[in-house]
Amino acid sequence: MIDITSLFKVTYGLYIVCSGNETKGNGYISNTFFQVTSEPPKFALCCNKNNFTSEIIEKHGFFSVSVLHQKANSEIFGRFGYKSGRDFNKMEGMLIKYGISGIPIVLNESIAYLECKVVQKFDVGTHWLFIGELIDAQVLDETNDPMTYAYFHQVRKGVAPKNAPTYIDQAKLATKVKSVKLEKFKCTICGHIYDENKEKIKFASLAANWKCPICGADKKEFIVI
Ligand SMILES: Cc1cc2nc3c(=O)[nH]c(=O)nc-3n(C[C@H](O)[C@H](O)[C@H](O)COP(=O)(O)O)c2cc1C
Repeated sequence: MIDITSLFKVTYGLYIVCSGNETKGNGYISNTFFQVTSEPPKFALCCNKNNFTSEIIEKHGFFSVSVLHQKANSEIFGRFGYKSGRDFNKMEGMLIKYGISGIPIVLNESIAYLECKVVQKFDVGTHWLFIGELIDAQVLDETNDPMTYAYFHQVRKGVAPKNAPTYIDQAKLATKVKSVKLEKFKCTICGHIYDENKEKIKFASLAANWKCPICGADKKEFIVI
């Protein structure tokens, strides 16, 4: 029998993956990025076919990866992880560097970046698995630790949306977890759950300007579940 909670024991980092050019660039939050060979250095990237960034990577043949740090602000997740660049310009107002291939690299909240040329592409069903060969990389900040997916879940209480390859249906998960009788509120933007039982503060008692700790959404975006 598959114990779905064992999937949480697999470790990942968290990144902003971008592609495009100065006229039109876009990016998304990814946890499925990892090194696959060292000579030459190649990396695998798993990108949902519905992600706008997927189309842009296919068109340009290059992608950049910004390594997010542990204290990265919630707005960066809200902007890149729960909304699509089809609906607004995600790059507007961001600190962008253009790589040697001309693709955008987000510098905000990042401790390093890598730039890769796509050398292979595999169809893995809902997602494309891109293999990228490293063409450039820089460290931006030596003082902060990289954000891990486990830290995002356990400390930042973040939830990955459906497009993430590691998405887990909360309803399925709930059957594994002992139920409690206090109210829970769900952020309709990013899916973050505010659990009164754990937080020890009633949701109604939170200040009116309180924001979702994951995506920065207003209190009014939460619904009781
Ligand atoms: C923590 C987290 C991890 C994610 N990991 C992935 C991933 O590995 N692959 C993926 O395709 N989408 C992933 N996503 C979902 C995309 O970031 C999200 O669907 C994004 O809105 C797509 O943006 P785009 O349409 O502008 O490309 C993740 C989101 C979050 C918040």
